[in-house]
Amino acid sequence: MNSRIAGTGGYLPENVMTNADLEKLVETSDEWIEERTGIRQRHIAVAGETTCDLAEKAARQAIEAAGLTEQDIDLIIVATTTPDRIFPSTACLLQARLDIHGCAAFDVQAVCTGFVYALSVAEKFIRTGSATRALVVGAETTSRIIDWSDRSTCVLFGDGAGAVVLEATDAPGILSTHLHADGAYRDLLTVPEGVSQGFAKMQAGEAYITMQGNEVFKMAVKTLGRIVDETLAANDMQKSDINWLIPHQANIRIIKATAKKLNMSMEQVVVTVDHHGNTSAASIPLALDVAVRDGRIKRGETLLLEAFGGGFTWGSALLKY
Ligand code: COA
Repeated sequence: MNSRIAGTGGYLPENVMTNADLEKLVETSDEWIEERTGIRQRHIAVAGETTCDLAEKAARQAIEAAGLTEQDIDLIIVATTTPDRIFPSTACLLQARLDIHGCAAFDVQAVCTGFVYALSVAEKFIRTGSATRALVVGAETTSRIIDWSDRSTCVLFGDGAGAVVLEATDAPGILSTHLHADGAYRDLLTVPEGVSQGFAKMQAGEAYITMQGNEVFKMAVKTLGRIVDETLAANDMQKSDINWLIPHQANIRIIKATAKKLNMSMEQVVVTVDHHGNTSAASIPLALDVAVRDGRIKRGETLLLEAFGGGFTWGSALLKY
């Protein structure tokens, strides 16, 4: 049994923060941010607006776009690093919001690669007959783990949610997924705080993203180049067989490096980083939803999704839309 994307959805908080707004917070400039990252603005959840709030809006849209109702869903996976609660999972909170009862619901935590991980897990549930219509969501309020006085990180991230409904089908859909991780790099991009370590940093107001930007940048470019080769080889495909690249939206320079490796023109790459910033696990489903809704991505086309994030984790999915 194959699985295909039956519908997509996306939601961004209404509150927009521009580079000019950031100039008022930290020693930075619109020019620096745009030149180094490609980001011009990002959406930031207001106080009280949670990851589950964003996920619900994206999920409802995806279910509607698939021509289904909430009751048709028999698996819910939410990729997030910024859950509403320590437990229950955001997937369970979302399940309750959608008035769905009984099906499996759980979160996947692979930071910016989270959506690719979640999609891969859902695809395996469907392939083995354990589910037929999976709701797969990437949702984040990354703004909550940002140090708004640290210019090296606060300019990069934004909040949002994207969702797909993955449906069992006989036709080609997801062709392959490829997941990797190497915890040896755990300290290069991290929030060094957590339940089991205690909340000392949180109490001290220091439970924020820390990152060695240069190292992350170099590893991301190298690793994404490798996974592109791995994905094409696994499917016996050429670079020219891919119609659309839907990359994780961290930095326009990383995206351009992957497009170059694929000999793809930027017209075949979905770019949202300029308007969304890095929304972590939400970035790929949001970008997919944008390009499906504006008519760029059409049924039958071949899409390559790829991501890199904290862990380090990295992954890809090749699919027929
Ligand atoms: N505004 C102005 N100057 C800034 C700045 C900001 N927001 N952030 C850093 N700088 C300064 C640095 O302090 C440094 O100054 P110095 O030369 O006086 O020490 C200078 O800019 C260059 O910093 P550097 O870190 O070398 O810049 P860079 O070209 O590597 O760009 C990133 C920084 C963060 C944009 C880039 O490394 C990057 O995108 N890395 C990947 C991050 C990422 O994608 N993370 C998520 C992965 S999922």
